[in-house]
Amino acid sequence: MPFPIQRLRRLRQNPAIRDIFRETVLRIDDLIYPLFVVPGTNVREELTSLPGNYHLSVDQLPREIAEITALGIQSVLLFGLPEWKDEIGSSAFQADGTVQRAIQTIKTYRPDLLVIADLCLCQYTSHGHCGVLKGCLIDNDVTLKILQQVALSYAKAGVDIIAPSDMMDGRVGAMRSILDANGFENLPILSYAAKYASAFYGPFREAADSAPQFGDRSTYQMDPANSDEAMREIASDIEEGADMIIIKPALSYLDILQRARQQFNIPAVAYNVSGEYAMVKAAAARGWVDGKRISLEILRSIKRAGASAIITYHAKEAAVWLREEGKYYG
Ligand code: PBG
Repeated sequence: MPFPIQRLRRLRQNPAIRDIFRETVLRIDDLIYPLFVVPGTNVREELTSLPGNYHLSVDQLPREIAEITALGIQSVLLFGLPEWKDEIGSSAFQADGTVQRAIQTIKTYRPDLLVIADLCLCQYTSHGHCGVLKGCLIDNDVTLKILQQVALSYAKAGVDIIAPSDMMDGRVGAMRSILDANGFENLPILSYAAKYASAFYGPFREAADSAPQFGDRSTYQMDPANSDEAMREIASDIEEGADMIIIKPALSYLDILQRARQQFNIPAVAYNVSGEYAMVKAAAARGWVDGKRISLEILRSIKRAGASAIITYHAKEAAVWLREEGKYYG
């Protein structure tokens, strides 16, 4: 009887040998935690569609930031809900807007925490689209002018990184030029380069009050069936000056992430989006899956596919679990 020469089980036989030869290590500082900031004071309201995540007013941020940094998380992604909406989303670029005040508060309280601000108009427009309308269509180039104003107002508020998620053509170049013209040439742009028109954003839109009032986003976000097109989006964002890119959603798009990493030498962040999180939470609440194991497996698979960092609603609990494992928070 011929016995196997190759025995892959040799390197699996105990925890120490598995630890040493593990190919992918998930660390707490791979995690970026999204925060939803709302107008008013004393608001700390758990999101029904995203359990474990909250609507927070600006005055609640110091407490939240203390908790996040104590867990070892080094980076947050800010989303704002405005006090008012109009046709062109002008509440997005007010110096005293929700996000602008949130940036100032966090940077005053914890200057070392990396503050990334999502930059889009859909929370701010009365129609819920990510751009300015001309009739029923989105006017790309008029939208760019508004996005430039938003980018400049975030920069003035002291943001560390801006993350445009609108998917208009030319937005990265437009933002780079207004930032440079105003002395913000060192402010990095993390562009949502490959952002798909996805049903996985449902819980987020409920939390951010940003669902389109008519139609959908498929004239600007990408068709889930396409992969070559994602490479063209990434190439054009890099050409326009993107410093890092986002692939979004993550789980159904790990092939896109891996392909992007093979094709481009640029940090690629994966967005483990709201619907992906909600599915795990719903199944775990029913006892159908082990919430902890499945969440860590998901995050590790995203890292294995090539993510430089992961935006995830699991960040806080994952930080606790990684600490419990006692090894991966370097
Ligand atoms: C804004 C934006 C969206 C998400 C991030 N930024 C929603 C959308 O494009 O409709 C979704 C994030 C998530 O689902 O977790 N354009």
